[in-house]
Amino acid sequence: MPRSNDHSFSLRPRRLRRTENIRRVARETRLSTDDLIAPQFVMPGENEHEEVSSMPDTYRYTIDRLVEKAKILDDLGVPAIALFPAIPDDKKTPDAAYALEPDHLYPNAIRALKDAVPGLMVITDTALDPYNSDGHDGIVRDGRIVNDATIDVMCEMAVLHAEAGADIVAPSDMMDGRVGAIRDALDTAGYADVAILSYTAKYSSSYYGPFRDALDSAPKTEEKVQEKEIPDNKDTYQMDPANGEEAVRELMLDLDEGADMAMVKPALPYLDVIHRVKEHSDVPVAAYNVSGEYAMITAASQNGWLDRKECALEALTGIRRAGADVILTYFAEDAARWLS
Ligand code: PBG
Repeated sequence: MPRSNDHSFSLRPRRLRRTENIRRVARETRLSTDDLIAPQFVMPGENEHEEVSSMPDTYRYTIDRLVEKAKILDDLGVPAIALFPAIPDDKKTPDAAYALEPDHLYPNAIRALKDAVPGLMVITDTALDPYNSDGHDGIVRDGRIVNDATIDVMCEMAVLHAEAGADIVAPSDMMDGRVGAIRDALDTAGYADVAILSYTAKYSSSYYGPFRDALDSAPKTEEKVQEKEIPDNKDTYQMDPANGEEAVRELMLDLDEGADMAMVKPALPYLDVIHRVKEHSDVPVAAYNVSGEYAMITAASQNGWLDRKECALEALTGIRRAGADVILTYFAEDAARWLS
């Protein structure tokens, strides 16, 4: 290592920062539209869109409007969308049965997208929370989220999504063993080509608040919670924010069970976890720049406190630098424009 002796001034890192072209040459991390996945919310109805109150400039769309948005994203070169459904309360039940209806909002949206924009990949969400009247990613019995009964439903969901045209299914629930079970179910049903993007290290995070507003999917807080019949948080299945080693253990299990890609979520408070998972992973690593991360930058910029574009691009670059190969981000459409 060089010492700060008499020739220390011959070592000048600033030489490589002198002009934009020299910085381009020295740049270690590239951010490109290739790396971006756009989460989208679909709702029932026709020709309507609603802004998510805690996510300015992010909308829930009816299927027809979603298809228009998908065309725009495809034209911009965004390779994939990750689709989430806003299910009306009267369709939600404790067993999340509506998730398995062959002709409901979600598979219909997948079919419409694949018809209109076949090249744009559709990544589907296999988790029960949009359909579960208890607001959990799993089935609740006696105040507990039951693992294996939940997986049975998710396997059927995954096959339904594959039938409708999903390119990739993404279990976002954190039940143990679901990747292997879904792989078996897909293969048995003849969908060996459908990939699994596992939410490998999904933390029990407070940064999901705006997303739960978007889908009205928060764990229900009424009498049942007070009587301890339903937990009011997801701590028994999503990971403890204090844990990093455990993410590597989750990765090993997911790889063993056949995950094609591994995700860390959220992104910005977990850059070290992204780094660790990337170091141990022989599959592409995704990071989810979640709703709360979007809301922070967007709200501060609306107050004139931060520059939205510069801060978003810096955040996305940082997530890539930490080791993410791809990023799910609500900034995807804007970022694709900024990068073009
Ligand atoms: C639930 C799910 C959540 C998100 C994606 N899928 C929230 C949760 O676990 O409660 C959050 C995404 C975001 O905040 O942008 N299966």
